[in-house]
Amino acid sequence: MNIGYIQMAPRFGHVEENVAKVRLMMDDTTADLLVLPELFNTGYFFKDFKEVAELAEKIPDGFTCRELAKSAKEWRCYIVAGILEEADGMYYNSAVLIGEEGYIDHYRKIHLFDDEKTYFAPGDKPLKVYDIKKAKIGIMICFDWIFPEVTRSLALMGAQVICHPSNLVLPYCPKIMPSRCFDSKVFAVTANRVGKDVRQGETLSFIGQSQIVDPEGRIIKRAGADNESIDVIFINPKDADKKTVSKNDLWADRRPEFYSPLTMDAEALAALKPVDAQTNLSVDKYDII
Ligand code: ACM
Repeated sequence: MNIGYIQMAPRFGHVEENVAKVRLMMDDTTADLLVLPELFNTGYFFKDFKEVAELAEKIPDGFTCRELAKSAKEWRCYIVAGILEEADGMYYNSAVLIGEEGYIDHYRKIHLFDDEKTYFAPGDKPLKVYDIKKAKIGIMICFDWIFPEVTRSLALMGAQVICHPSNLVLPYCPKIMPSRCFDSKVFAVTANRVGKDVRQGETLSFIGQSQIVDPEGRIIKRAGADNESIDVIFINPKDADKKTVSKNDLWADRRPEFYSPLTMDAEALAALKPVDAQTNLSVDKYDII
């Protein structure tokens, strides 16, 4: 199947213009699956709650979803796109999944980054995997990448391709995603934006370098740091079903009974006491006897 990303520079607050730009970039695409950046339609650097409220949309009835649905139908592809959602007076940093048949579902970012916590409610929908016929895909948004539990959970649930709308400002993600993909033997499409949001005298710059990583941890496509682009490549999603390294099966060899700290809350973790290395000398004592 053909998968790809659109890397672009939204103009802050100009939803119609940003959506039109993306629809134009998508013209004639051969992609079966296209991933767009986080908050691609609004821009990222909000300065007050009022502008969040003004720019947010209902999903799926808002302008952006309706426009993307036209492109998905026209080019017969699935689209994963980051948009700002309003629901019941709450605002979410969301990503919609749209196909030829229209809106399918959406995800709400669960790990909010930095000032996002001022404006958005944390995601409240479970991680899911969608069967889009040519592949099984999962969705996470930008800073979710730094929690390996997210890529891992999606891969364990059967995702072959992780769709990763992003607005990266720090340099780490493009370097670290190959490890995430290698460990869980999964593809990832990180669609980042480029350019700057200049707001009230402050500037936030985005690092570009959108990329597609394969289950061996190889970067098989990468965009530049500051140019807009649409890149599409052919992959075999089944490559993500082979969970082996040497003679090991990374799925069969898991020992989840030893991983309970991963699902403990902060209080339970704080109650865990390290072994006192001074008093717990049993191994040494037996060795001496
Ligand atoms: C980010 O989560 N937009 C860095």
